[in-house]
Amino acid sequence: SKSKDFLGKKILITLGPTQEALDPVRFISNHSSGKMGLAIAEAFSKRGAEVHLIAGPIKGEIPSKFKTIHVKTADEMLEASSAVHSQMDICVFSAAVADYKPANVADQKIKKTGSSLSLSLTKNPDIALTLGKQKSQKQIHVGFALETENEKKNAKQKLSKKNFDLVVLNSLQDKGAGFQSDTNKVTIFHQSGEQKESELASKAEIAELILDQIKNVPVWI
Ligand code: PMT
Repeated sequence: SKSKDFLGKKILITLGPTQEALDPVRFISNHSSGKMGLAIAEAFSKRGAEVHLIAGPIKGEIPSKFKTIHVKTADEMLEASSAVHSQMDICVFSAAVADYKPANVADQKIKKTGSSLSLSLTKNPDIALTLGKQKSQKQIHVGFALETENEKKNAKQKLSKKNFDLVVLNSLQDKGAGFQSDTNKVTIFHQSGEQKESELASKAEIAELILDQIKNVPVWI
């Protein structure tokens, strides 16, 4: 295996979905399992780094070697991430954050009355965008882009808009890529224009590839 080439580095990883409550029994969420984020955490840990996780609600135990803060909502994920961001060397935004949340959270269970129900949603904060504006010269930000169409164009837009050093594109057009599976297939875009495409591989192997690509970022010393 690789040497401890990330020894002494502090890493922040957001992972899993967020849950946005509608009422005391229901929420809006997505299919993220946290597997991709955990694979990246394992890779960093193996290569000597100190790993901090901000984890949305995911199944299973998170190894205690990671310093983990558990959150439910995008607002909580932003607050927890902001609190530690300035101390971090590298931040990886692998969470699938709900872009919108219910405008109002009902105090009581919403009753089944009419034949249809409209929900009013309001925009959530964008964690990667917010922290991207605070990124220092020495920090590296790695984003993800989960796309279903116009994948490369959308990924490159996210790279520049969110001030990422690199963005990891995974497309739901690729079988075995994205949510829940133990595999992924990615294309990594650098700020420099450089790009690297993977085969379908285990999330552990994809994580190693992402770490190798981080070492090509100019601020890396
Ligand atoms: O968890 P798994 O089941 O293993 O699945 C892995 C994954 C598919 C969730 C992961 O590989 C992935 O693609 N994560 C990002 C999912 C996503 O929401 O992508 P996006 O294209 O909507 O967001 C772009 C980037 O901005 C991401 O880095 C995201 O974390 C970040 N973001 C988005 C919205 C928001 N409000 N805050 C954010 O920080």
